[in-house]
Amino acid sequence: MTQFILNDQDISTDAPPGMTVLDFVRYQKDLKGTKIGCREGDCGACTLLVGELINGSVSYRSMTSCLMPLANAAGKHIVTIEGINPADGSLTPVQQAMVDNNGSQCGFCTVGFVMSLTGFCIDDTAKMPQLAVSAMDGNICRCTGYKSIERAAEEVCGRWNEGRDKFVPGYFSEIGGRLLRIKTDEGKSLPPENPVFVSGGTDIYVQKPDEMPGTSADYLFYSDELREIRDLGKTIEVGASATVTDLLLSPVMQSAFPKLYEHLKLVSSTPIRNMATIGGNLINASPIGDMTIWFLALDAEVVFGHGRHMPLRNLYLDYKKLAKTESEYIKAIRFPKPAADFRFNFEKVCKRTYLDIATVNTAISLIVEGTPGKDWTPPALTSGDQFSTHEAWLAAAFNEKGGPPTQQIEFTIKDCHLAAGGVAPTPLYLRETSIFLCGRTINKETIEEANVVMQAEISPISDVRGSEQYKRLLLRQLFRAHFFELFGLD
Ligand SMILES: Cc1cc2nc3c(=O)[nH]c(=O)nc-3n(C[C@H](O)[C@H](O)[C@H](O)COP(=O)(O)OP(=O)(O)OC[C@H]3O[C@@H](n4cnc5c(N)ncnc54)[C@H](O)[C@@H]3O)c2cc1C
Ligand code: FES
Ligand code: FES
Repeated sequence: MTQFILNDQDISTDAPPGMTVLDFVRYQKDLKGTKIGCREGDCGACTLLVGELINGSVSYRSMTSCLMPLANAAGKHIVTIEGINPADGSLTPVQQAMVDNNGSQCGFCTVGFVMSLTGFCIDDTAKMPQLAVSAMDGNICRCTGYKSIERAAEEVCGRWNEGRDKFVPGYFSEIGGRLLRIKTDEGKSLPPENPVFVSGGTDIYVQKPDEMPGTSADYLFYSDELREIRDLGKTIEVGASATVTDLLLSPVMQSAFPKLYEHLKLVSSTPIRNMATIGGNLINASPIGDMTIWFLALDAEVVFGHGRHMPLRNLYLDYKKLAKTESEYIKAIRFPKPAADFRFNFEKVCKRTYLDIATVNTAISLIVEGTPGKDWTPPALTSGDQFSTHEAWLAAAFNEKGGPPTQQIEFTIKDCHLAAGGVAPTPLYLRETSIFLCGRTINKETIEEANVVMQAEISPISDVRGSEQYKRLLLRQLFRAHFFELFGLD
């Protein structure tokens, strides 16, 4: 029995847990406002909001219902367009802004846009127009043209301070208490009982759309036990069911990765990031999985449910062939906690910036030691400076007094982990190149020599995303981009 709240209605259903929420709301509840477009997470026509109790208040995220199993709705507030319509037949500010700015023509996509924008209005995101537009990055419109929809988003941002109650009906204020009273199976103890695992569903429901509704599976998505992101002192541990959005919002991850937002925004779209888990990305074993490449470059370790653990780089044997048994599920992934001398970068090239998988992606982590380069002249000593040796003065000038600009520091690589996707049958940890880089000074010669090693380590093939030659060139350029981003080396 799956229990949840659908709009203002308590639901207790024995419909198959593997059925999609889209089919449930349209065909079992006759709520036809939610549209069916691609059924692959690509168009956003089926977007709805999912509210979840977090630290005593309900937090809403947009999700694509075509890829969401009913089991993942357990204990949640599922909101369709019918659930935000004001009872008096008027329009919400989001709907009104779409009308006023001519944001709709045939209207097929409009519900999805309205749901995404409403989700943005009631979540904690800063109310800036560019973030409102980002919230709709999973929605595609084939006839209106995006400028009028963007104007609607800007207008909505201007009305945000009128309060959350303007954007959703009054019954939302009671949802927290109602969710507390719902009994769910989500706290059920692990280990799971079935050999098929489903987390966010964003991969498996695209691969097996007809099979999944009738398959017995273990649904790991909302297991609290698998979702935590923890600072363990020397390591950081990310639960397998943490989503890409969970990573983005995690203070632990934000402090470890200053460019977290910039990098993770390149992964799919807002609703997919809200569903896509780390465990699913790793097991999907796509040669271009973004989070897989990310964690390979951190030389992370996979922790399985029964306690076995192994370096992530040893998990991938061949195309979609993994060094794990069918019944083993991933519990968490762990990596060394970044220190001050740590540098990390992620690069991805795809045919369009958002909502696209990579042609080639790559990530690098480095531990470096910096010393002033030979071209740098230390600042003159001032009368207050008391240093017994020239070295002490140099160290102080370098570490505390601003030191030379990055370009004038000589960096030596103490440790390096490099990974790349789209250049082999598996997500690739570039072992030889990583070893080659250790102990070397960062300069143009090192990068060029490392590229020779890297080119020998990869085996891209020509396919719809590009020729072998193009992918080789792309990886070379992205490899150089790491050093430009981190050290200003062009
Ligand atoms: C529109 C769209 C855009 C996308 N864009 C990107 C992108 O830009 N970058 C990218 O990397 N990916 C992208 N993806 C792919 C997908 O979203 C990711 O791979 C995602 O991380 C999969 O996670 P999930 O929780 O949805 O996996 P699911 O679909 O639930 O599962 C995927 C596989 O992993 C297994 N599994 C899940 N969790 C576990 C676990 N804990 N232990 C063992 N096995 C497990 C399942 O059995 C299944 O075989 C996109 C997908 C869609 C639909
Ligand atoms: S129907 Fe296209 S994203 Fe769901
Ligand atoms: S209004 Fe027709 S697809 Fe957007």
